[in-house]
Amino acid sequence: MSKTRRRPIEELDKRLSILRMEDKPEIIERLAEIKTYNEFKAWAVLKLAGLSYLPKQYLNIINKRLRQEYGKLTVVYIDLFAGSGLNKIKGYDKPFLGSPLLVIDRASRASYQFDKLFFVDKSREYIKALEERIKILSEYDEYSWIKGRCFTIPKDANEAAKEIASKLNKIKYKNCLIFIDPYKWQIKRDSLERLLEFHGDVLITLQALLIAKEIGKHNSSGLKEETVEKISEFFGMSESRWRKLSTEDSVKEEYIKIIKEHKPFVVDIKVKSGGLYRYYLIFASKRSNPPWKNWILRLKNLVESFSGDIAEHCIERMYGRASRLDDYFKKQEKKIKTKTKYTTLDNFLN
Ligand SMILES: C[S@@+](CC[C@H](N)C(=O)[O-])C[C@H]1O[C@@H](n2cnc3c(N)ncnc32)[C@H](O)[C@@H]1O
Repeated sequence: MSKTRRRPIEELDKRLSILRMEDKPEIIERLAEIKTYNEFKAWAVLKLAGLSYLPKQYLNIINKRLRQEYGKLTVVYIDLFAGSGLNKIKGYDKPFLGSPLLVIDRASRASYQFDKLFFVDKSREYIKALEERIKILSEYDEYSWIKGRCFTIPKDANEAAKEIASKLNKIKYKNCLIFIDPYKWQIKRDSLERLLEFHGDVLITLQALLIAKEIGKHNSSGLKEETVEKISEFFGMSESRWRKLSTEDSVKEEYIKIIKEHKPFVVDIKVKSGGLYRYYLIFASKRSNPPWKNWILRLKNLVESFSGDIAEHCIERMYGRASRLDDYFKKQEKKIKTKTKYTTLDNFLN
């Protein structure tokens, strides 16, 4: 996080320029020559903005505190729902870095880099695009450290988690930064727990609101048998137990309870997507009182001050559709005024 205090809109704008690789346009242009992308709405960049702060902080601390203590320590990054490496926002054609390439880029700026990086996606097409993009990056000096350190796994995340765990279990001293970014409930509880056992930190996207809504639907009209089974595996509990989790808070609290069995330090970061929609980024660490506690709490405050609307405005500015960041506040004022007008009219009609 920056030491000079920027306003949230300026800080997010800066993060988006990192995701756009604005300081290296020739590299992102080459990466974009491969025409396979993940496509999202603007609010999806918020989790990547949050993730972008972690690698450098994590690696610097590991290097300072643990590497000297343990000597030969293997430092690992695991991205269980990695995607293709580049994302496009619906309605815009310029690509943004996806989680794997973002983490590589940020790690390049740390005092020490990852020894091994595992990238998993069940889509062969995404993994192929990611492999090609990793190869392109590795040709540049600042990223050449990734040569021979990246392992791509085109499989279901749950199978891959087993495979990665059995590889890592052979290494005595290791520490992992793990990013788990499913659409909804694609990670089973036993796979999650397998990874939570490793020393290190984890960041998880939790779609608590979406999941609670689906549970509500199940309670009123029933879901498909296949979906019921997936939700049972996600929570690692019977249908009769998860049926009670029909609010966003209850889903989040239950999930945090599961995580806390393995990692006692948990911080939940609420990401406001725009409108009424939101999701959580859950950060967890093995140490109950980690030395980076204040840092992560500051990160929580910062990311919670972002929103999907602000992200959309920053992206519009990048495209020249809005000229200044401050136009965002004018737009908001206008919105509020229009709303007030309608409310008054409603009151009058009633
Ligand atoms: C939300 S996207 C992740 C994007 C990436 N983390 C990023 O932020 O750039 C989810 C990804 O998970 C993949 N996926 C969906 N179900 C999966 C599963 N069961 N196992 C592994 N990957 C899966 C999809 O193909 C998609 O690329």
